[in-house]
Amino acid sequence: MPMIPITVANHKGGTGKTTSTMMIAAALGMSGRRVLVVDLDPQGFLTRMMGVAEPDPRGSSCALFDESQTFDPASIVNPGAFHLMPASTRLSTDMRRLTRSIDVLWVREFQQAHFGEYDYVLYDSAAALTVFTLNALAAARHILIPVLPEYQPVVGAEQTYQTAITVGKKLNPDMKEPLMLLTMVDGRKRNHIAYEKYLRERYEDRVLESRVRTSASLSTTRHDGKTAFDFDPRGRGAQDYAAVVDELVAKTAEPVLESEAAS
Ligand SMILES: Nc1ncnc2c1ncn2[C@@H]1O[C@H](COP(=O)(O)OP(=O)(O)OP(=O)(O)O)[C@@H](O)[C@H]1O
Ligand SMILES: [Mg+2]
Repeated sequence: MPMIPITVANHKGGTGKTTSTMMIAAALGMSGRRVLVVDLDPQGFLTRMMGVAEPDPRGSSCALFDESQTFDPASIVNPGAFHLMPASTRLSTDMRRLTRSIDVLWVREFQQAHFGEYDYVLYDSAAALTVFTLNALAAARHILIPVLPEYQPVVGAEQTYQTAITVGKKLNPDMKEPLMLLTMVDGRKRNHIAYEKYLRERYEDRVLESRVRTSASLSTTRHDGKTAFDFDPRGRGAQDYAAVVDELVAKTAEPVLESEAAS
């Protein structure tokens, strides 16, 4: 089985990117898959939530953008159900030197060279179209756009969708059509119902059927590497993301070639 890289992105902030990355990676890891999360957000919230302290930049996702450095597999940490390449605050200063057009291909190349042993690699990105987000879009086979069904996140999701398509055309022929995931849905709110309907009509099967409702266990911020699967396994948050992961696994599975099936 080839490794499946997934980038989680939305240009708008606070739409559930980090929460989705963590929960999806945890569910995949708990089901026995080998999963790596690469934290490409200079703010490093995912890294912090996994209980990982500020790493040495050489042992962080900065290493993906540093040709002078030989990759040290020991820099990948193992804080729970999945492996993690943590973010360093140095990412923000590194960004200033990554200005050439070929600087969007670092992650794609690094991934090809070093991540082959994983079943899934997930990239968490910041809410801005930085060189890191472009790198993650240029590297992934699937783009997952978490979207809260309200005006600004929906606009952000549609912009992200278009950006992903453009990056795919120019730099990433392996990229499939981006997928949207409804998050923090409150079925009692009229605007949520209306925006969900709009997205489903417009993007059809590119919106996952499973959606994530608002839940207390997902809004708690912890710094011990535990996810809602650990501290509230029967709660809505764990249930919703378990369904999301089942659907995502089915949607991202590569079709088996007849010649392979026969052998
Ligand atoms: N389904 C949910 N129900 C309730 N709260 C949630 C849910 N999903 C995420 N949250 C909370 O909403 C906030 C934003 O979520 P998160 O950090 O995952 O978004 P993000 O898109 O990664 O944000 P940023 O753009 O800042 O990186 C967090 O406080 C998180 O705990
Ligand atoms: Mg985030």
